[in-house]
Amino acid sequence: MGARISSLKARKILDSRGNPTIEVVVGIRDNGGDLFFGRAAAPSGASKGRLEAVDFPVGGVDKALEKVVEIAPKLSGIDAFDQVKVDETLRELDGTPNLSVLGGNTTVAISMAVAKAAASARKMPLYQHLGGNGGFELPYPLGNVIGGGKHAGGYAPDIQEYLVIATGARKTSEAIFINARVHKKVGEMLSEANSSFTRGKSDEGAWSPNICNEGALEFLARACELVSDETGVEVRPALDVAASSFYDSEKDLYVYKREAVTRDRGEQLDFILGLIEKFKLFFVEDPLHEGDFEGFAELTKKVGNECLICGDDIFVTNVERIEIGIRSKAANAIIIKPNQIGTLTDTFKAVELARRNKYVPVISHRSGETTDETIAHLAVAWHCPMIKTGVVGGERIAKLNELIRIEEELENKARMSRLR
Ligand code: PGA
Ligand code: ZN
Repeated sequence: MGARISSLKARKILDSRGNPTIEVVVGIRDNGGDLFFGRAAAPSGASKGRLEAVDFPVGGVDKALEKVVEIAPKLSGIDAFDQVKVDETLRELDGTPNLSVLGGNTTVAISMAVAKAAASARKMPLYQHLGGNGGFELPYPLGNVIGGGKHAGGYAPDIQEYLVIATGARKTSEAIFINARVHKKVGEMLSEANSSFTRGKSDEGAWSPNICNEGALEFLARACELVSDETGVEVRPALDVAASSFYDSEKDLYVYKREAVTRDRGEQLDFILGLIEKFKLFFVEDPLHEGDFEGFAELTKKVGNECLICGDDIFVTNVERIEIGIRSKAANAIIIKPNQIGTLTDTFKAVELARRNKYVPVISHRSGETTDETIAHLAVAWHCPMIKTGVVGGERIAKLNELIRIEEELENKARMSRLR
């Protein structure tokens, strides 16, 4: 059975920040002549890695739409069941390593839309089309509760994300509701502590208070303890430091504006180590800037099994970068963002390489999102133990609620993924 690409249409839609992004609809025709469609949209980051695929060509989304019209005839007729061929063709049509001609967001939206159309032709959910029938695993959601850095403003912390993960949950749905409970509790605690707190939120639906870096963690850790006690389920705090976003490369210093302090490399390492120990952090992402493989390795070695040290900006879902990381033993977890690398095939390669080397793959949203739910399916298809996709907000719950549906659909055919 096969199904050939017969139409390709792109449009400009809104993302959660109110910026334009691209949505693609792919039509495919099977051997019997029946038509099937797949639709997908690309997200966008605010604290991007320097080495990510370029999101849009010069000229932005409008230029990307023109490019799609241009390349549509060249994709026409390709077998949509052959995802590798589709993705290779996209890379060839672009012709640059960082996808700057078509834009990584353009290619990723086409790549995902093709996969969704193929799943539809096979009359199966996307996770099954991509993952086969082998025992399915459901991920633990990792969600953003307090936001700072480039996702917030004013007097919010410099650290970008204060995250929660219900490590003791028996089901994804249970973990999703527990994360929401922690989010709610932190909101109440912040309101109680400071009557001027407006309940304002940052880009990913996390609270955005006027609070210092460690102070935010105090609230989060306390809320995790309370919710653990209330539910009997272990709930742990975690961080995405996004250190590149406040690293001054000229001075080789981490600049914490909120407290008006700077930290050199050693001080940054000690600061993070201190937070991991004091708050029993389960996971820390991008504790150091995106070029410091050695610093990452030192931290990973020092924390041992105590905490996952995860790379996002340092790896940018790119196998060449991941290989450097593996050689230098830089981390034990990796953020996987399809639009950082631009196609599903390349994303899958990153997941596989990471897993073979005992890195926990964490499939992830971006701070600017749409209601596209594809990453929920990728987590299940590719057995990612964790999915980072926020806690509340329409574009975040699009993924979480999809996981609830998948869990229900799989009933006893799926088990919770192993976190370590
Ligand atoms: P983004 O960052 O703003 O680039 O999506 C999110 C993250 O750092 O994980
Ligand atoms: Zn990150």
